[in-house]
Amino acid sequence: MMLSVLASGAVGAGTPAWAMLAYLAAGVLFILALRGLSSPQTSRAGNRYGMIGMLIAVVTTLVTHDVATLPEIGIAMFLGGVIGVTVARKIAMTAMPELVAGFHSLVGLAAVVVGLAAWLDPASFGITDSAGQILTVSRIELGLGIAIGAITFSGSVIAFLKLSGRMSGNPILLPMRHFINLGTLLAILGMIAAYAVSGAAGAGEGQLIIWITVAAFIIGFLLIIPIGGADMPVVVSMLNSYSGWAAAAMGFTLGNTAMIITGALVGSSGAILSYIMCKAMNRSFISVIAGGFGADDSGSGDGEPREQRPYKQGSAADAAFMLEQAENVIIIPGYGMAVAQAQHALREMCDLLEEKGVSVKFAIHPVAGRMPGHMNVLLAEASVDYDKVFELEDINSEFAQADVAFIIGANDVVNPAAKTDKSSPIYGMPVFDVDKAKQVFFIKRSMGGVGYAGVDNDVFYMDQTMMLLSDAKKMVEEIVKSID
Ligand code: TAP
Repeated sequence: MMLSVLASGAVGAGTPAWAMLAYLAAGVLFILALRGLSSPQTSRAGNRYGMIGMLIAVVTTLVTHDVATLPEIGIAMFLGGVIGVTVARKIAMTAMPELVAGFHSLVGLAAVVVGLAAWLDPASFGITDSAGQILTVSRIELGLGIAIGAITFSGSVIAFLKLSGRMSGNPILLPMRHFINLGTLLAILGMIAAYAVSGAAGAGEGQLIIWITVAAFIIGFLLIIPIGGADMPVVVSMLNSYSGWAAAAMGFTLGNTAMIITGALVGSSGAILSYIMCKAMNRSFISVIAGGFGADDSGSGDGEPREQRPYKQGSAADAAFMLEQAENVIIIPGYGMAVAQAQHALREMCDLLEEKGVSVKFAIHPVAGRMPGHMNVLLAEASVDYDKVFELEDINSEFAQADVAFIIGANDVVNPAAKTDKSSPIYGMPVFDVDKAKQVFFIKRSMGGVGYAGVDNDVFYMDQTMMLLSDAKKMVEEIVKSID
């Protein structure tokens, strides 16, 4: 039976059977890719599965194309490819989160444009009935696709502006925002329902589509402006999820199975990642989805004058001497390590210490750096053994026995204000208990700089803390020289 369908060359509405099988194979490869990416050991294989799956999906779509001609697709791919390669070559590793947010906005915009094109020329998308009217199910897909796409677009643009520092990272809390957000969301759903049941095309129908688009652009903006400071990582993964659902909705409109599968995989894995990150940050998932629901007006510490307090400063030679005397050292890397690209020098330092019998472990906070897995990627690049790298919940209890907590370019993830100061923007986020270690080394460039959340850190001023004020790579290289 299956073979006869394949021989006839067609299944369902116009998609050849071989193409359906190719899309299915691509979908299986994408699932294997996600499975591979779940662990550093298998992530390279996961990436390869994903690339092969994407190649199969793109080639199949090119061969079975019916909406645009091959030259049109070729020109679009060439232009997009040139822009993508140029941006990817120029972008600094530290600017990845804003780049990701920028790319999500394009996925959202593409979903809006596809939806509008299908609405304007439904026959060429094959979504009309015998009377030439758009099918009810296609109206629902189209309305949802445009709405999710527009929310993804404007939300991602705000995330891009906040992450790149072009807009303040502080939460912007409008009065009555929960009612405005809820009202706008209900209005969008109401308009999609009205559009789905509206019969013949006409001016009223056109107005509905335009209002759905406008209202969704507005709600995307409103949902992201109240989220600030330390919660931005969750927003990035949440927008990742939205962009997946927007792509899945586009897949329905275009009748492309691979897009539906890929979009659903991105949508659901992004939602799971957001949930995991909310748990790691001790934030309510619902509160973040609903646009900072429950956020109070305390704001972040940005710009607040900081009192001068006494602190101890040391040199690379001091640090090297004490590290050599230690039995066990826990290293806490953060965003500054990425800025300085200090991971290779750090690995060299660990090798030297281990040769001298010191036990060295790495403690990774789920939001250290500026993107999920940021520290893991950098440590893997420097060939640090995976079995020396521990998650927060697995290592936090070990600080009480540690001789040295070695903080390199981390700040918010070791800030005790998260445990004690209810007015702090990071309050509630689990942090490393570095204050329990016998000795703390804190590498940062100056006492003036603050972490992402913009708040002072009591760890700088503790009795057992020695500040090592320098660029992280330079400081670690000097420590390495002193150990030698
Ligand atoms: P941060 O709190 O941002 O602290 C970075 C530290 O690195 C600062 O103390 C900074 O001080 C120092 N630094 C910067 N450049 C340096 C250099 N070249 N050499 C030495 N030190 C340098 O970093 P974190 O502890 O990793 O925390 C991450 C924060 O980012 C959290 O608030 C998190 O919510 C947020 N965030 C995370 C993500 C994801 S997904 N991970 C995404 C967006 C936002 P100086 O300037 O004085 O050197």
